[in-house]
Amino acid sequence: MLDQDIKKVLISHEEIVAAAEKLGQTLTQEYQDKNPIFVGILKGSIPFMAELINHVDAHLETDYMAVSSYQGGTASTGELTVVKDLTADIENRHVVIIEDIIDSGLTLDVLKRMFLERKPASLKIVTLLDKPEGRQVEIDADYSCFTIPNEFVVGFGLDYQENYRNLPYIGILKEEVYQ
Ligand code: PRP
Repeated sequence: MLDQDIKKVLISHEEIVAAAEKLGQTLTQEYQDKNPIFVGILKGSIPFMAELINHVDAHLETDYMAVSSYQGGTASTGELTVVKDLTADIENRHVVIIEDIIDSGLTLDVLKRMFLERKPASLKIVTLLDKPEGRQVEIDADYSCFTIPNEFVVGFGLDYQENYRNLPYIGILKEEVYQ
């Protein structure tokens, strides 16, 4: 049913799982014996984070943060409100932020500064998707699974008006759905 609204499958479920497995192996090496905190940024990161941590064979903790960005007038300043803060104290901890997509980079730019103020032992950023053509501020992930073109994509956590997050793949939405 949801498939009918998709113009093209950009990244299949199998490709996502394979990428998560590969990245999981890298993170297993990097965070062995560091007891890191993997922080999912709600809501979009949930399916990717769930898949990724299956492939990390090391002790780790999970936590979540929800932020809302203020659009209209203040968007260019990247103003961000914390809707749900972390449960954990991240001072002196190894922290890995998990995102579904980096587009303008505004969210992550503010988040990164917010996290660094809390003095973690280290901070790295992981994203499922990177859309470099959308960038308004200079920021990059430490690990990115896929670079995508400047298209409106949904699925595997990414939404259009809160829908399509449950698609098991990344797809390009048909124009008629949002026009
Ligand atoms: C999405 C995504 C990132 C941000 C990326 O979240 O999860 O956090 O946008 O965009 P940017 O690089 O242009 O800032 P969104 O605010 O849509 O919330 P959601 O995860 O709940 O869908």
